[in-house]
Amino acid sequence: MGKEHCRALAEAGATVIAADVDEKKCKDFASQLGSNHMGMEIDVANMRSLFNAREQILKKYKTIDILINNAAINDMFENPIAAAEKSKFENYPLPLWEKSLDVNVTGVFLCSQVFGTVMAENKQGSIINIASTYGIVAPDQDIYKDETGRQQFYKSVSYPVTKGAVISFTRFLASYWGEKNVRVNTLSPGGVENNQDEYFKTNYSNRTLLKRMAAPSDYKGAIVFLASDASSYMTGANLVVDGGWTAI
Ligand SMILES: NC(=O)c1ccc[n+]([C@@H]2O[C@H](COP(=O)([O-])OP(=O)(O)OC[C@H]3O[C@@H](n4cnc5c(N)ncnc54)[C@H](O)[C@@H]3O)[C@@H](O)[C@H]2O)c1
Repeated sequence: MGKEHCRALAEAGATVIAADVDEKKCKDFASQLGSNHMGMEIDVANMRSLFNAREQILKKYKTIDILINNAAINDMFENPIAAAEKSKFENYPLPLWEKSLDVNVTGVFLCSQVFGTVMAENKQGSIINIASTYGIVAPDQDIYKDETGRQQFYKSVSYPVTKGAVISFTRFLASYWGEKNVRVNTLSPGGVENNQDEYFKTNYSNRTLLKRMAAPSDYKGAIVFLASDASSYMTGANLVVDGGWTAI
């Protein structure tokens, strides 16, 4: 989804820094966007990496106007046999909990601190924190069952907990930086179709009001809206774009 967010902003005229843990992939992707964009390796949970990135960005572009906190851990269990057991709340490993908190919560905090401070100094900026429907409502564990009724895995505890924290963090920072004219909003997406099996896709779709999963491009409008002056009187809000999942 990060790539789609970058494309949306590039198409709307922004200069984009595409950042993730793999430098080459980021650079290759940024070059596809156009020569004025930049790809960069950033570990969102590492202060040194963030300061280094900020220095490079400011040297080249002088300012930072928009931050999308999109990076996150969403547990995937490589061994499908062990997945149901490992993802159970009773068994959920502490290291996975800590890793999710580190990236999904501490990463949002650190990136906002490091890049948002530039915005606060400039008295202008928009921070978009990506949460999830599961930051608002509990996971529906039934949709992770297969056709025989076997639980393939559970949506693990750390995902909804960290996404709930993102929504709360948004309100904190919107309040804190309101007088600095830095707007801070959450975007809460629903599930994106991404080669899941047909049974899952049907079950997921039936839980939404629009009866379908999202296409990655479904969030482009919301990203441009939140990043731009089109949302100039909006801060501390949670824009829910979920096909109606949380409406029922
Ligand atoms: N895909 C969905 O259906 C869906 C639904 C609701 C919300 N979301 C949210 O949207 C965002 C993007 O989701 P996605 O499905 O594209 O996820 P994804 O797993 O494909 O991408 C997440 C990216 O974060 C990067 N990342 C992980 N740790 C990092 C770190 N320490 N530093 C920098 N980058 C790091 C990963 O390398 C990965 O490229 C996430 O916040 C996710 O929770 C996704």
